[in-house]
Amino acid sequence: MAEKREHWGSRLGFIIAAAGSAVGLGNIWKFPYITGENGGGLFVLIYLVCIAIVGIPIMMAEIVIGRSAQKSPVGAFTTLAGESSNWKVVGWMGVFVGFIILSYYSVVAGWALNYTFMSLTNFFAGKTPEEIGAVFGLLYSSSGMNVFWHGIFMAITVGVVIGGVKGGIEKWNKILMPALILIFILLAIGSIFLGGWKDAVNFVFYPHLDKLKASGVLEALGHAFFTLSLGMGAMLTYGSYLEKNTDIPKASIIISVLDTFVALLACMVMFPIIFTYGFSPQAGPGLAFKTLPIIFGKIGAAGMLLSFIFFLLLVFAALSSAVSLLEVVTSYFIDEKQWTRHKATLITGGIIFLFGIPSALSGSGALFPQWETMYGKNFFDTFDYLASNWMLPLGGMFISLFVGWKMDPNLRRSEYMSGTSWTAEWLYRLWVVFLRYVAPIAVFIVILQRVGLIDIDRIVEILF
Ligand code: PFF
Repeated sequence: MAEKREHWGSRLGFIIAAAGSAVGLGNIWKFPYITGENGGGLFVLIYLVCIAIVGIPIMMAEIVIGRSAQKSPVGAFTTLAGESSNWKVVGWMGVFVGFIILSYYSVVAGWALNYTFMSLTNFFAGKTPEEIGAVFGLLYSSSGMNVFWHGIFMAITVGVVIGGVKGGIEKWNKILMPALILIFILLAIGSIFLGGWKDAVNFVFYPHLDKLKASGVLEALGHAFFTLSLGMGAMLTYGSYLEKNTDIPKASIIISVLDTFVALLACMVMFPIIFTYGFSPQAGPGLAFKTLPIIFGKIGAAGMLLSFIFFLLLVFAALSSAVSLLEVVTSYFIDEKQWTRHKATLITGGIIFLFGIPSALSGSGALFPQWETMYGKNFFDTFDYLASNWMLPLGGMFISLFVGWKMDPNLRRSEYMSGTSWTAEWLYRLWVVFLRYVAPIAVFIVILQRVGLIDIDRIVEILF
């Protein structure tokens, strides 16, 4: 017998949990380093446009599907499109992508755990920037440490998800999200006093037209999906635990704005350090771990405390996102295979841990040493690339097309209207136009570029 469907304890509880899913390593670890790699301002601008015209409409679409069907992705598509429909493949894809993302996401979260413990030993005090960089290199290339921390993080994630929706996911997020934002604001204020602050503002906010390549556009779009947890049914699943009184358009905007705010704050904490100490913004995945400890190491005992709190909150930000990834996978087995939450969480969590081991060993080259030579990226980067740049945008495109064209228009309208004060007809229509045309076409163009059928760089050259 299936367990009775849980619901969030309150409307705010949903917003906080969904924001907890959105705000994670994507904002703090990934966004600053891909901004650095893609030359700054223009990339940030394109990313903001992607959030506004693709991200927000698709987030609303996911929540609409989930709340209307009261099921996780596979069940939701079956309920809304019919048992024999192929739309459920989009749901399966979501479960599969959840597996992939969580497997490497947990490795990065493991680094944060490691740094949390290093902070306790006041490790960074008195170290030069080079020494701090070398420590990350050491961790990155150590097989044992990576697998160990990855395992610990997966175990914690499983522990929270076993607790269920209200008792586990919602309760923790309510405390941790506000704490994270607060500490980031403090750090960003501190960064204003660094010599490199002006250069950082210029780098992050001024669109240097010559610095971005078309490949960066795909990355910006892919990251918009990743950072908002879209395209694989995470928001859909969270939406399925909603009662009908939540204002979906407003909630989606609040979650997206909050997420973007944290990403930009993270840049305004890290780039001033980078420019003050003359690093390259292109440090790649180690960026956050190589920059922040420099500051922590310079401010004595307060630095030790700040460092500990910072990395601990980073772990929690990662945890609230990891929980939503695991929830997509487990809810499939709970809803479709009638497994108990306990069994589903333990088994899927265990498999994801095993699945993540090749990513954990990427830095040491202990497994698949030829991988990097053959694919130009190590195993970890390959998974991240495939998931964020291909699977999430494609999943998002299908979700958008589904709600735009396939879902029963009466159901779509009533689901949108239920709980919102934004009942103006033009707003509703505008949303549908975005789902039918704007979002799918944007994803499609970017994919055509990627497979080489069009050349955005050339088109931009001709137009301007
Ligand atoms: N949004 C999370 C982050 O920015 O770290 C990552 C993520 C969570 C992606 C859940 C996808 C997802 F379904």
